[in-house]
Amino acid sequence: MVNLQERPAAVTKITNMQEKFVYDICSMYDAEYHFLEAQQMMSQCVANQELKSLLQKHIQETEQQIRNLEQVFSNMGQQPKRMHCEVAVGLVSDGQRLILLTSDHPRMLDLAVAETQAKVENFEVICYRCLITGAEGMKQNEVVKLLQQNLQQEQQTVEKIEQCLPKLRQEAMSNTAKAR
Ligand SMILES: [Fe+2]
Repeated sequence: MVNLQERPAAVTKITNMQEKFVYDICSMYDAEYHFLEAQQMMSQCVANQELKSLLQKHIQETEQQIRNLEQVFSNMGQQPKRMHCEVAVGLVSDGQRLILLTSDHPRMLDLAVAETQAKVENFEVICYRCLITGAEGMKQNEVVKLLQQNLQQEQQTVEKIEQCLPKLRQEAMSNTAKAR
């Protein structure tokens, strides 16, 4: 059960769809910061060059996405605010643990990073889809456009990561087979 005392901002009850939308944007804003830090860390750990450059490209996109969210706040007449996103923290800490546990096997570590990133991107895709539906409902056309930019980048990243996965898995399998 969520302890609301730990999250004072969450105590304020949501009474309309605009407040709910702003809450969701605050949570996404927090999530993007967590994912940005995680990607910076993961891009330094990986050996696979394709995966490394994919992460580096997405770091730049994530920075732009954060700026887009700040523009969304501005369009909604709000100051940017981070609302603790438990899912983001959980995804990142699970990923970090797996990276630590596979650190003696670089190919398996690469696979762990790619799988973590795939989970993150799929989570972001559904979040942005929900946010876009919310913004459409409020007829916030500029906000919809900004969120669609973010969604498009997440979808492209999911595709690229998922294309890398079979090869990374194969490399991890043959590498660990040799190590036995
Ligand atoms: Fe992303």
